[in-house]
Amino acid sequence: MDMNIYFPERVSLSNTPTPLQKMDRLSQQTGVEIYFKRDDFTGSELSGNKVRKLEFLLADAKKKGADTVLTCGGAQSNHCRATALAAIRAGLSSLLLLRTDDPANPPPISGNILLDRLSGAPIVWITPEQYRARDEIFEREARRLSSKGRKPYIIPEGGSTALGAWGYVAEMEELVADLQRLDDGDVKPTTVVCATGSGGTTAGLALGARLTGADIRVVGVNVCDDRDYFVNIIDGICREFQWSYFAGEDAAIPPYDIVDGYVGRGYALSRPEELAAIRDLVRLEGVVLDPVYTGKAYFGMMSELAKNPRVFGERIVFVHTGGLFGLFAIADQFADLL
Ligand SMILES: Cc1ncc(COP(=O)(O)O)c(C=O)c1O
Repeated sequence: MDMNIYFPERVSLSNTPTPLQKMDRLSQQTGVEIYFKRDDFTGSELSGNKVRKLEFLLADAKKKGADTVLTCGGAQSNHCRATALAAIRAGLSSLLLLRTDDPANPPPISGNILLDRLSGAPIVWITPEQYRARDEIFEREARRLSSKGRKPYIIPEGGSTALGAWGYVAEMEELVADLQRLDDGDVKPTTVVCATGSGGTTAGLALGARLTGADIRVVGVNVCDDRDYFVNIIDGICREFQWSYFAGEDAAIPPYDIVDGYVGRGYALSRPEELAAIRDLVRLEGVVLDPVYTGKAYFGMMSELAKNPRVFGERIVFVHTGGLFGLFAIADQFADLL
């Protein structure tokens, strides 16, 4: 197994390696060995998957002499919250483009928005329509900052670029070491399941599985859009990664699967059965998922297992990519479930 992976420069922000924990009761209930890779432990305020990508993206921003990072996301974006806080840790400023239906009446200060506001990062509220043309708004804000002598650096949605994907190559390297310890040097066939929201995590895991050569299948459960949309995005990230870092060598896209059908009511909109699955996991294992990403992906994984207990093989690693603050923003939706 080739474990000599040469990573680009990164700033150290995450609390890694994260633990790999067996979910004993869940494994017993499903008849499949289920582990959680606890990427919700990557930090307290920096909890979740985004900080792994930001370690590489912020190092690049600093190397290029930037002093302000611009990024974007939904109103309760974990990525924007992590970027605002990580930027401070890295000695940079940030500016956030946040999507909301009515920018004149932004959502209340709760969950991630509270942390965004505590960070002091300027927030530009934009409509879903403006969000679709966000590159223009990025350019406008970058020009405005440049005219004031600032040096802007744009981080695309979710940090899901070839450079950001290195964060999940690093995670895969970590996971392979976890599994080798578990399996006495070998790695038994394993399926890694994660939430797919902007594609970078799934792409990084697939690239990491290829680079480590481990017998690991990567499955993303999309929480918005559809399978075709994400295949296009993830293949694009993988292609850019191969060209940028391996000069196109081994340019075949690494294998991965997207399990579609669990978007439910739409991005960041929950169904009672998804919230009930979050509640039941807390009561079974004492582990708390978020409603927008990990809760939906977990609900999808469990629904697939209910149809076919061997659909992901004998062993699953579910990546808990964080997002807990988003749960507090929808506390009222749990009222009938408690
Ligand atoms: C908590 C959480 N989990 C999973 C994801 C999905 O990761 P990615 O955007 O890399 O697909 C995100 C962000 O989109 C997230 O905030």
